[in-house]
Amino acid sequence: MMEERIQELLSEVKGYLARDKKELEAFRLKYISKKGEISELFEQLRKVSSEQKKNVGKVLNQLKQTAESKLVELTEKLDAVPVESAEIDLTLPPVPNEIGNLHPLTLTRYRIIEIFERLGFNVADGPEIEDDWHNFSALNFPENHPAREMQDTFFIEKKAGEKGHQDVLLRTHTSNVQIRLMEKQKPPIRAIMPGRVYRNEAISARAHCFFHQVEALYIDKNVGFADLKQTIYHFAKEMYGNDIKIRFRPSFFPFTEPSAEIDVSCLICKGSGCNVCKHSGWVEIAGSGMVHPNVLKSCNIDPEEYTGFAFGMGIERVTMLRYQINDLRLFSENDIRFLRQFQPVI
Ligand code: PHE
Repeated sequence: MMEERIQELLSEVKGYLARDKKELEAFRLKYISKKGEISELFEQLRKVSSEQKKNVGKVLNQLKQTAESKLVELTEKLDAVPVESAEIDLTLPPVPNEIGNLHPLTLTRYRIIEIFERLGFNVADGPEIEDDWHNFSALNFPENHPAREMQDTFFIEKKAGEKGHQDVLLRTHTSNVQIRLMEKQKPPIRAIMPGRVYRNEAISARAHCFFHQVEALYIDKNVGFADLKQTIYHFAKEMYGNDIKIRFRPSFFPFTEPSAEIDVSCLICKGSGCNVCKHSGWVEIAGSGMVHPNVLKSCNIDPEEYTGFAFGMGIERVTMLRYQINDLRLFSENDIRFLRQFQPVI
């Protein structure tokens, strides 16, 4: 009888789990304390007949030792684990990793590249710190064109050289990459050139001192204005869907002739009037035109043989329409509440 009870307790003790201090104390009270089961058994041992005493005493002592070392083991285990994680529930789903996401301007740039790559346009790159030749002179800007003036351009170094201006500046548009491409590559050329540009403008909801453009250049034999129009129509539909409306307004750029500004219907107010479309229902997204013969000549391309179109699109504007954002400043404020809204849905 007594031996059976001892064996029972032995297996109980061996299998005991203490998940917290309370359960540990319960263990101590039940088996080890003076009023515990084991002390009780030692009391009973006195009544056991002398021939059995030796054997029963042996197993009882074993039980006592096992219980004591179990208490040490359980105490050490609990002390090693911080209190909170002692209560870990392994069935809970894991806390998701905080992953970042791409900036809305990057998302839009990627989309623009994707659309034009399918039309056979390569992606080209150029410097943000530029010389006067690539930013102005080669693009047919006359000597005294107002865009060269201090109020528009951030000059890094002003110097006059033999061939006129030799200034170093922050590029005011991505059209500098047109020149760099045509200087080193013979037509046909079909490329887009995304990048950051700088203008000395007061910062407001519609303007910033730096922003982003994607320039496009297509030079080949027999390229006409219809090709430009078709390319822009295709782009606008891919970017905004079939309901988008587009209009070309006659304009002027020194480096294109004829020139046009491209407007799309305002997707922010749907035509009812807002600060982005200045209550006109239309938003300008690009300047465009047929590359001026003087520009081709500056790059040693024969304008009698080749023609081409170019356009420069504002990535901020395209993004504002795409996501219905009405303030340009949000793009550079790094407000996490704004940026998180562009997290891809997984
Ligand atoms: N470079 C012009 C601008 O910044 C845009 C443009 C590019 C116009 C190419 C015509 C052709 O406004």
